[in-house]
Amino acid sequence: MQSDRRIVNLALIGFMGTAKTSVGRLVAESLRFEYVDTDEMIQSGTGRIVSDIFKTDGEAAFRALEEKTVAELASRVKTVIATGGGLPTNLNNFTSLKKHALIVCLWASPEKIWERVKNQSHRPLLHDENPQAKIRELLAAREPFYKQADVLLNTELRSVREVAQQIVHQFRLATSSR
Ligand code: S3P
Repeated sequence: MQSDRRIVNLALIGFMGTAKTSVGRLVAESLRFEYVDTDEMIQSGTGRIVSDIFKTDGEAAFRALEEKTVAELASRVKTVIATGGGLPTNLNNFTSLKKHALIVCLWASPEKIWERVKNQSHRPLLHDENPQAKIRELLAAREPFYKQADVLLNTELRSVREVAQQIVHQFRLATSSR
């Protein structure tokens, strides 16, 4: 564990469709923490939706906004931070979050992810000729980043409530000895 860590927040990372939002809201409620979502922060800060930023300014511009948002979160306490699926692939984001948050990764197989996202249309990276192949490709590329989380939880066989309970338990364990 990094010696300069002070765990006062909880960050949820993981691929699109791993239920970060619904799990994050429940965890925040249980811990009596505030809930924030980096995509929502970007949207309210810019007055634009994520897919428009991707389309008009490109992915690199969106990733710069993500990094700025993560830097702003460094002064937070008692906050559950749900992050966009690609955010932890930027080392600056991972390093920054790790200083103040327990990092929990929600995991699911490409098949399960496809099942969960196939009827949704707001994710620009899945506007692809073959979204299932895109999910497999992105997930494989991101796996090494996701697996650096403090806690890795498979969400496939657990309900949102069970996943949230596990996370609350892990957070209490991680913060009780200090
Ligand atoms: C992205 C995931 C999205 C959003 C953007 C890019 C990604 O967030 O940040 O569309 O790169 O995986 P969710 O993981 O909340 O869908």
